[in-house]
Amino acid sequence: MLRVFALFYVVCVVVSKNAEDDMYIGLDKYQENYDLPKLPYKYDALEPWIDALTVKTHHSVIMARYANKLNEVLKEWRESKEEEKLSKTSLLNIFANIESVPEKWRTNLENYGGGYLSHIFYFAVLNSNPSGEEKELPDSLKKIFKRSFHNFTQFKDWVERDACKHFGAGHIWLIRVPRGNYLTIYATVEEVTPLNNEYQPLFALDLWEHAYFIKHQNNRKKYVENWWKVVDWKKVDRLFKWWKQFDPKHDEL
Ligand SMILES: [Fe+2]
Repeated sequence: MLRVFALFYVVCVVVSKNAEDDMYIGLDKYQENYDLPKLPYKYDALEPWIDALTVKTHHSVIMARYANKLNEVLKEWRESKEEEKLSKTSLLNIFANIESVPEKWRTNLENYGGGYLSHIFYFAVLNSNPSGEEKELPDSLKKIFKRSFHNFTQFKDWVERDACKHFGAGHIWLIRVPRGNYLTIYATVEEVTPLNNEYQPLFALDLWEHAYFIKHQNNRKKYVENWWKVVDWKKVDRLFKWWKQFDPKHDEL
């Protein structure tokens, strides 16, 4: 009996540790500073599909700069007392009301805050998969994928098609649309996020060359093929459930 309790304790600790490690935890809370969240894996964990130098630079230089600049903009805006109530809410709420952000700070907030958020939704759902073994969707996601995209292969084809035809830098997002309880694919340029449209990201596929140029040069198609191998659908499912907590109770289907 003692062994059963010990095992249960270990499982609980592991589950809660994973949840605490999720990079998006706290985005729904007011924070004076949005720190650079730690990656839930080592810089070389995504090898051989995404190289360690790319992951390190992407996180510790590019995303870190977005975090610093975001905090500078937030500090300046909050000190100005303009739209004070909104300025002292969570990053998610600020992005849901981006049109109400005073013009003086809106563009910088969209760029740096958008960059901060898009990288969270890029890194948070990746994981080590050195063998490149094909990962199945968890059962809990199968129904909504079928309803939204017909089948998983078609969904992947659409993402790849959109990624390859996308001009310049940007992202391809997998989005949960809470009002209709379905998923969709959404493309944005540079660091624009879909959050201001009340869309809930389940992943952001980064199409900036900094995400793939060292290993793949300008071969975006190959990068996307390799990127699929490190998408952890269990983490996508956890993010899906995290978003669900914000659903208005009467909207649940
Ligand atoms: Fe990036």
